[in-house]
Amino acid sequence: CGIVGYVGMREAYPILIKGLKRLEYRGYDSAGVAIINNNQNLNVYKAKGKVSELEAYISDKDVSGTIGIAHTRWATHGEPCKANAHPHYSSSENIALIHNGIIENYAVLKNRLQEKGYTFKSSTDTEVLVQLIEYIKVSKDLDLLTAVQLALREVIGAYAIAVLDKERPSEIIAARKSSPLVVGIGDNEFFLASDATPIVEYTDKVVYLEDEEIALIRYGEDLKVVNIQNVSVTPEIQTVALNIGQLEKGGYPHFMLKEIFEQPNCIRDCMRGRINVEGTNVVLSAIIDHKEKLLKAKRFIIVACGTSWHAGLIGKHLIESYCRIPVEVEYASEFRYRDPVIDENDVVIAISQSGETADTLAAIDLARRCGAFIYGICNSVGSSIPRSTHTGSYIHVGPEIGVASTKAFTGQVTVLAMLALTLAKNKQTINNNEFLKIVGELMSIPDKMEKAIQTNNQIASIAKVFTYAHNFIYLGRGYSYPVALEGALKLKEISYIHAEGYPAAEMKHGPIALIDEEMPVVVIATHNGMYDKILSNIQEIKARKGRVIAFVSEGDEVISKLADICIELPQTTECLDPLITTIPLQLLAYHIAVCKGKDVDQPRNLAKSVTVE
Ligand code: G6P
Repeated sequence: CGIVGYVGMREAYPILIKGLKRLEYRGYDSAGVAIINNNQNLNVYKAKGKVSELEAYISDKDVSGTIGIAHTRWATHGEPCKANAHPHYSSSENIALIHNGIIENYAVLKNRLQEKGYTFKSSTDTEVLVQLIEYIKVSKDLDLLTAVQLALREVIGAYAIAVLDKERPSEIIAARKSSPLVVGIGDNEFFLASDATPIVEYTDKVVYLEDEEIALIRYGEDLKVVNIQNVSVTPEIQTVALNIGQLEKGGYPHFMLKEIFEQPNCIRDCMRGRINVEGTNVVLSAIIDHKEKLLKAKRFIIVACGTSWHAGLIGKHLIESYCRIPVEVEYASEFRYRDPVIDENDVVIAISQSGETADTLAAIDLARRCGAFIYGICNSVGSSIPRSTHTGSYIHVGPEIGVASTKAFTGQVTVLAMLALTLAKNKQTINNNEFLKIVGELMSIPDKMEKAIQTNNQIASIAKVFTYAHNFIYLGRGYSYPVALEGALKLKEISYIHAEGYPAAEMKHGPIALIDEEMPVVVIATHNGMYDKILSNIQEIKARKGRVIAFVSEGDEVISKLADICIELPQTTECLDPLITTIPLQLLAYHIAVCKGKDVDQPRNLAKSVTVE
């Protein structure tokens, strides 16, 4: 979900709506705003669907006022509908509240309030919180801040909230626990948001709230921060380096296409300052600063979700091959509840684009309590995961807005390759020629990515042929197996076609039964150590009349005779192949989704930052 808030001298509404649009990638089931106008009326408007639907609904309403909060929702408790949209009102309609996260003990709190005569209009956990705040405020005759503090002390779960009280028309109270919240500090005005993207066009000065901190945002006063126990905290003002161009589509029809095309430059940014110009050295400063711990690790455990988990699978391959350290790759959501065997000799690598994924954060927390050393690989600067790890490396690919992850994946793989190379060199588990060869190849990856992107038109035509397929199989071996998983995930996410990624040789243990002349099978068959094996797999598919779309290395003359469709890609060393082969699979998913008329950047039911478990 996304939160926006404003208090200052300007009209709040245009700022809130623009902010919601910038945050819409975080959730888009329903949206709403609450604004206090100059007559001290608290107006709340909500609509099911996207922010544009809210705008249309509001077009003839009173949206005047210089203070307000707004929300775009990704449903957890209660279906997406107007009643469940935020802001939620208290019974007296004096207080409005927006919330990200989950109140786990909402049922207990709700029962208690119902016994006191409170009634509820929605089936959300959020309405319980706003009613609780009002109940405490009124029954104990307290000010809003104290009521919020007392209410939050009773809450079990995660929250980022913003509260407006019509009796205090120049004040927003905002608080966080496990869900991100940023306050932007302008000239006699304040902005509030779930991440810095809606704020950067107004100010680059921000304060990231920490867990259980509450911001008192008052017009005409300095920002005040206290915690839920009412202890004052000195806000640490930071400068964000995001520019507005990075947040706009720049002529592309979709963010996803822009982000796919950006990859060569993103990977240049990701490597900048980390590989010397001669290509003889790779330095990830996080490793140098914590050399002892990392070199002595007995085992690495990678925790992540979704696309980041796929990058982790490639990381396992890289680290095991070159550093000779065992690596396990875990879904953060499984790891956190599994009572895993883990101790101070383990290094946990947490991979996350957003840096906010609730399961990944919980996995970090668990590993830290067991004494492990935590290394983060994130994109979103200043987000919760980088702040909760011992050290880490940013991937530096710029904000990713398309919900289906693209450039973050290649950035994560690039950082994992640099991490494996730095460690291997320090551990002396790689010989110098091999090291120099891989570094040289890494440096040429952005140019090769440019060539891979040139397959765009060819892939757009293939997409037309397969638009109405009901299923797809994606196959790869070795380093290409996680690429097959990622390709299938991209297709599922944005085109809603069922797709399965499989290690090619496992196909004969089940999925081969699915193959007939209707079934498109995408095979990553570039020229590397697994080539002959994958060739046999293609023959197995052809023998069952499957339709093979093969991604091969330039100049391949064998597979082109076998496959129905063959797309040539620049060749690179095996361990870096995923950086090239992923690109046409992203494009394939993109073009099929466009042909089907789907909402590419905001696919149904998904959200970019999953801040709930
Ligand atoms: C969501 C997104 C995916 C992403 C996953 C993990 O499901 O839609 O694209 O891969 O979360 O997110 P993270 O930010 O931790 O990489």
